[in-house]
Formats: sequence, structure tokens, C-alpha cells
Amino acid sequence: MSLSDLQPLGLDPILSIAARVARDPRPERVDFGIGVYRDAEGHSPIFAAVKAAEARIARDQRTKAYLSPLGDTRFVAAMSAAAFGEHLAFAGLQTVGGTGALHLAMHVLAATGSGRKVVLGTPTWPNHAPIAASAGLGIRTYAHRADVGGAFDPAPLLQAIATCSAGDVFVLHGCCHNPTGIDPNLAQWQDIAAAIAAAGALPLIDLAYQGFGEGWAEDQAVVALFHDAVPELLVAYSCDKNFGLYRDRVGMLTVKGRDATSGQMIVQHLAAAARTAYSMPPDHGAVVVRTILEDAELSRLWRSELDAMRARLASLRQAFAMALEARGLGQPCLSRGFGMFGMLDVAPGDVEQLTERFAIFLPPSGRINLAALTDATIERLADALLAVRAGEYA
Ligand code: LMR
Repeated sequence: MSLSDLQPLGLDPILSIAARVARDPRPERVDFGIGVYRDAEGHSPIFAAVKAAEARIARDQRTKAYLSPLGDTRFVAAMSAAAFGEHLAFAGLQTVGGTGALHLAMHVLAATGSGRKVVLGTPTWPNHAPIAASAGLGIRTYAHRADVGGAFDPAPLLQAIATCSAGDVFVLHGCCHNPTGIDPNLAQWQDIAAAIAAAGALPLIDLAYQGFGEGWAEDQAVVALFHDAVPELLVAYSCDKNFGLYRDRVGMLTVKGRDATSGQMIVQHLAAAARTAYSMPPDHGAVVVRTILEDAELSRLWRSELDAMRARLASLRQAFAMALEARGLGQPCLSRGFGMFGMLDVAPGDVEQLTERFAIFLPPSGRINLAALTDATIERLADALLAVRAGEYA
């Protein structure tokens, strides 16, 4: 096959939304697509703590000489301690966002050549399966769903664990499930961790929303629980959302090996994979995060900004759930969910109607970025959903 034989690709279901919004001339258009936090004016703000850290870095940084494929190791130490606590022993390396962490993890897992499969609860973040496939790993799925009361239903996941092969990799959303917002509770997580340990499977926790769910400490409880329950654990961590550093691409991959030597060995292989892919991660975002975490005052400022975001998100979620309820469109899993996302109960055709008729943009799956709601758009979206669901525009 020559390069000219390449066929056009389909659009990315999330990234394509912003381009479509930008082309739309209607002033009332609203972008509920990509997962960025937005304030009441619809802007995705830069944290004041980030601005202050950047000013310090601009003043004090003396070199931009290369680091290594491990990235900024002080960032990894500070972020692990802040995220998981000093007491959890992890090895790790800086990565190009959470996506980079997942990519390195899957490529090194594929290189172990044991025929392991990646097990995904669907719906999931649409990039999970392509990352696994790009590493050459096979994929199995189970339904990630809520029960009738809107709480997480663990049965399909436990069934998938019971029928997996040792070494299969379970990608688990550590908190704020993307796209459903439906997380297991702590007792369910305990059952899941015990089942994974008994099956000899490997948990790969994707933690991209720490601080957006129930609280900073609560949102990492699953990591601590798995750390105690299983001999080997990988955590792909993103600072995109909780530091608002989306385009700076800062994340880390932390590893618990069977012992300290094995953990370091795994990191060595991950670093070798980074070396062939991009040599080393970009520095700026990691230095910003480290500067904040190593300074008590900046840390306090950052945490207060993050806490305010979480409170605003939770109140938008409840206000939207009530607006739907008032129109007879109540979805218990929306009001019970956590984090930035929820799934609207719509068909892909309905999503197209929302866009065409009402200038409301979201991915075909019906995932909504709740942070993009405002007092005005809550009512507008609820009314539009009512019209679409009533078949008014079918
Ligand atoms: C999202 O889910 O919207 C974000 O994580 C952005 C992305 O890369 O898809």
C-alpha cells in the first residue's frame, strides 16, 4: 500500500465538536462537547495559582536543557504524594498527559507478549479502545451501567472479572466516570478489587478527575484500596483538569510492582517506550504543578480554586437534574453522578436535532459536559430535550 492508498478517517467524536461549533454562525450556540471546565461566563479559566507559579518560573528558571524520558522526577514525587499520600509506595514517570500514560502502559503491556486482553466497561472514553488497539492488544467489553435507581450496577464488571484470563488488564475510571458520571461506591470497589486480585488480572486505573467528584481525598480512595489489594497496579494520572493545564499535557504513570526492584524495572521499560515515542515529555506544565505543590501558599490557593469548581459542578448537575425532572424527563443516574459528565437519554438522531434546531452541540453518544451549563442554558437545554423527545422535530 502506498501513502496515496490511505482512506479518509471518521471524525473524532469529541475533538470534532469544537471545530463544528467554531464554524457555526449562530450566536446562541453552546458547546457541551470536550471536557474542559467552564465558568459562569463560559470561559475555561487559568487557575490563579497557575498564573502565580508561571510568574515565578519565568523569573527563576535558569535553563531549559534536556531532562530525561522520566521527565521531572520532583514533579512525579510531589504529585504522587499529593494525590495518593506519602505512605503509598509507587515508582513512576512523567507522561504527556493521561493519554501518554495510557499509551506507554499499553505498549509495555503488549510487549510482555502474554496474549493479555484489555477489558473496558462501555461506554468509556472513546480513546481507550484505540490506544489499546494501537498497542496491538485485544479488547473485551462489558456494560458499564446504572441500576434502575441510578446507582452503579457492578454485576457485568464482576462477571467480566470472573471470566477473564490471568494477566488481562482492567481499565478502571478511578472517579468521575467518563462519560456516565456513575462510579462504584467504596464497598463495590472493595468487591471489584478482591475479584481482580483473585483472578490474577491487572488493574490500570485512569485517574483524570481527582478533585472533581466527592473531594480530593475521596476521589483517590480507589487507588489506595487497590494498592492494598493487588500485587501489581498501574495508575495513569492526568493534571489536565485539576490544574486546568489541558494544552500543556502534564500527567504521570505510577506503578506498584511486586517489590521495589520490579517497580523500578517496569518504569525503566516505560521510559524506554517514551524514548522511542517522543524522547521526553514537555517540561512546562510539570514545573508549574511542582511549583504549586512545593509551596504551601500556592497549594492552598490551588485547592480552594479546585474546591470551588467542584462545588459549582455539583450544583449545576443538581439544577439540571431538577430541570429535567420538572419536565418529566428525570434521569436518576444524572443526579447521582459525579464529575464533569453525564449521559443524556437520547438517540444519535436526537443529538443531531439538538444541534440543527437548537445550536446545542454534544457528541453523538449524548455525553454532556455539565461544566458548560449556565443558569440560562439549563432551561434551554431541558426545553430542547423535551421538544426533541416529544418528536416535535422528527
Ligand atoms: C474529554 O473526554 O472530553 C477529554 O478527556 C478530552 C479528550 O481528550 O477527549
